[in-house]
Amino acid sequence: MYTGKIISKGKQYIIGWVKNENHKFPVRIQVISKNKNRVILDFLAQRQLKRDPGGKIGKYGFRVSVDRLIETGVKGEVLIQTADERFQFKPINLPSKISHKRQMNLNKRQINMPNIFLIGGQYSSGKTTFARELAKINKGVHLLSLDTLFKNDAFPSGVHQRILGYVNSPMFNKQDFVRLFFNEYLHTIPFNEVNTVIIEGWVLSHEFIRKKLTQVLMLYGNPVFMQLVDHKLRFRKQLFTKSHEENAKAFYEFYKKIRLEDLTKRTTYQFYSDLGQKTFNSNTAEKIKKAKMPTLKGKTILDIGCNAGYMSNTFARDKAKAVHGIDVRRISVSIASQYNNVFYQSPNVKFYHIDVYDFKPEEKIDIIYASSVFHYFREKQDYFFEHAHNIMSKNGLMVIEIELYEEKTDSPYTYKYKRGVDDSPCHFPNQKMLEKMIKGKFEVKSKELSVSQKGSKLNRYFFHLLKK
Ligand SMILES: C[S@@+](CC[C@H](N)C(=O)[O-])C[C@H]1O[C@@H](n2cnc3c(N)ncnc32)[C@H](O)[C@@H]1O
Repeated sequence: MYTGKIISKGKQYIIGWVKNENHKFPVRIQVISKNKNRVILDFLAQRQLKRDPGGKIGKYGFRVSVDRLIETGVKGEVLIQTADERFQFKPINLPSKISHKRQMNLNKRQINMPNIFLIGGQYSSGKTTFARELAKINKGVHLLSLDTLFKNDAFPSGVHQRILGYVNSPMFNKQDFVRLFFNEYLHTIPFNEVNTVIIEGWVLSHEFIRKKLTQVLMLYGNPVFMQLVDHKLRFRKQLFTKSHEENAKAFYEFYKKIRLEDLTKRTTYQFYSDLGQKTFNSNTAEKIKKAKMPTLKGKTILDIGCNAGYMSNTFARDKAKAVHGIDVRRISVSIASQYNNVFYQSPNVKFYHIDVYDFKPEEKIDIIYASSVFHYFREKQDYFFEHAHNIMSKNGLMVIEIELYEEKTDSPYTYKYKRGVDDSPCHFPNQKMLEKMIKGKFEVKSKELSVSQKGSKLNRYFFHLLKK
């Protein structure tokens, strides 16, 4: 015997509880869609009610996201029941649209981690000239001179010696200086817009100030500190003794080397062969060739599941008008942006930490690229094509790599299996199922074998799908 109740049928969630006869175990619940005629969700109701600590009463709560149901293509009536079919709740009618709360502000999801160079040095050490030279060899730079922070502090800017005297006097309050920086200047730095932020000022030689600024700037990018002494540059244990122009170039080469070592340690799936990284089993560089991308010039491109950004960064250098790299893993997009900021500095690529289903750009997408990601969409594969269709421009092209199930080919079928790397089974359609999903929205323009990868037992194909 079961008892149960739907407590709330809100726009966002269906919330309820269920109790089983022996009070002991959480209950398996299924959501069945009438229009799809199949089970859409299968889960355990296992939240213990607040009023039932320890689960003595045996009521187990559950919450189903309405948006998640709509995204899987479910319309109209859904039925919630126990998996053994012995108890059913009253059927529920879904709203026809996703609640507007799910509309995300894309700007807030953009992640960019610029290089941040903190340049310290005494008056006349050459730090300002060096900072300008370093700015010249970077593409998108925001340059900030901390000396200007003293402008309103009784000294006209540029009167270095007097400022120096002030800072070394008991009148100077270093905590207050840090606060001034945070209150007045931090928010003026366009961290998401630039590749490099250069902050110079001899006040950075103050250990307290440098440390505090570094701690906070680490949240926005990768700060490194360097010091000018008598027109020589000191960075980590290196001394650069040539002209400022040559020092800036030599410094940047050295900087690239240490950043590459760091990024290589943190990159696990893709690899940048052009930067000399060794291949992982994902065959990244080979895969992008197999994709046979069309001319990208002037096009807006979306790279879904961009990971460490290899494809996005390559598209950006291939003269795309705009590239959006998106991934549900925040660390991936952060790393992807760092590769661009350190090595390529393309102005036309942006990375977003966002699920593809929440990605609704203002400007339509001309080309969608999606490799090694479709199987993760699971129940939402069907809806993916609808969503993609909505955000694409007329005559848009989707270049999608799919692991096809080829054993059963006579009728639409999705093979579900859990590979070593997965938490739950991924979905691998056969070609008939793919054709069914894209019907009326896309047509197959080409299909070609992609790379083979360790860990996947099915063949991967690149499909070019033309938007109808
Ligand atoms: C196996 S990697 C493939 C990376 C890259 N596309 C490639 O082929 O080299 C899959 C990536 O897709 C991301 N991903 C999975 N589901 C996603 C979703 N719904 N929206 C955006 N990214 C997703 C994962 O976080 C992961 O970085």
